[in-house]
Amino acid sequence: MPENAHDAVEVISAKRDRLELSGSQIDWVIGAYTRGEVADEQMSSLAMAILLNGMNRREISRWTGAMIASGERMDFSTLSRPTADKHSTGGVGDKITLPLAPLVAACGVAVPQLSGRGLGHTGGTLDKLEAIAGWRAGLSNEEMFAQLESVGAVVCAAGDGLAPADKKLYALRDVTGTVEAIPLIASSIMSKKIAEGTGALVLDVKVGTGAFMKSVESARELAETMVALGQDAGVHTVALLTDMSTPLGLSAGNAVEVQESVDVLAGGGPADVVELTLALAREMLAGAGRGDVDPAEVLASGRAMDVWRRMIRAQDGDPDAPLPRARESHVVAAPSSGVLTRLDAMAVGMAAWRLGAGRARKEDPVQAGAGVVWHARPGDTVTAGEPLLTLLTDDPERFDRALASLEDGYDIAPAGTPYEPTPLVIDRIA
Ligand code: URA
Repeated sequence: MPENAHDAVEVISAKRDRLELSGSQIDWVIGAYTRGEVADEQMSSLAMAILLNGMNRREISRWTGAMIASGERMDFSTLSRPTADKHSTGGVGDKITLPLAPLVAACGVAVPQLSGRGLGHTGGTLDKLEAIAGWRAGLSNEEMFAQLESVGAVVCAAGDGLAPADKKLYALRDVTGTVEAIPLIASSIMSKKIAEGTGALVLDVKVGTGAFMKSVESARELAETMVALGQDAGVHTVALLTDMSTPLGLSAGNAVEVQESVDVLAGGGPADVVELTLALAREMLAGAGRGDVDPAEVLASGRAMDVWRRMIRAQDGDPDAPLPRARESHVVAAPSSGVLTRLDAMAVGMAAWRLGAGRARKEDPVQAGAGVVWHARPGDTVTAGEPLLTLLTDDPERFDRALASLEDGYDIAPAGTPYEPTPLVIDRIA
């Protein structure tokens, strides 16, 4: 296709007028935007037209393909074992990658997980792992390949070579109110995962107050769109819709979530974290053709913990080093006795973020020790005056704002009030 086959105004006007974009218009606009020939203001106008008028399955598939083609595509087909990866759309207390990657590797399936840093109220996997002394997120492709062969699991930063069009477009969407478009979210996530070269993919699509998708309907639409994109690209893809109205586990932050993950690998840890880790592991193993292996047995055997230790060491981390602790803590006591009937994921996520566990801008540092620990989960009995939450930070001046975000963050009902738990796994889309 000649490089000047189209012009930006023609493509924007077509989507503004609700027309279907042609394959050549899509290839051209993504390529030209990546090369800097379509201006940011033109691409933001097109992104807004897509947010308002949508794209059909053919357009989304072509858009994703064009973003993949903007960069390199990794290939793990020469590894001695099959590969499977997991992507979560982001939630509060979502440390699942940490126990999941070594567990699936211990079951015989390699996990090449290219991850990101957190922005806003949801934490980033790399931020959590960077709480471990010495651990290094940046690996070359050769190091990644070698670690996958020797250890079986790698969690590292995605290099600049993967889907550069998405990198540029995501940053633009972030500042133009166009993040929420399902076709753009689906193509953004799937272009990176398909370019990463995994053989099987499990999507953990979060639903609820602490998630991108607040309703089951919108989460299902996103999941179905992503599953179709994966299948079109020949990647065995399944999605679980999982609850994110309550935060996962008993902590949100960086070092505190590493500790909780190590507890799971040691055979303990909160029941919901164990349940979701095993549910996702089963899907990854089945997708990679190893559905005969029982991850619960492997977790109980301690083999996943061995892989965790090797995985951390391979990236220069010390799995035995004490984890950083925040300098200051503040305990929130339960204001009354009864049953905790709600702990809001968004409120907890905002509090952890305001305490320093997350960042407001890409370049901000995070505090390894900051975060929130909760001492009860919905359905548990609490006693007036006993600790309900502990807030952790290095900067005590952050407590007031964190407390403000928790003000309407939980409900305690009189003892004996029936409590109906929300299922953790809401649906499965294949
Ligand atoms: N995560 C991504 O990688 N892209 C999006 O568009 C939204 C969430």
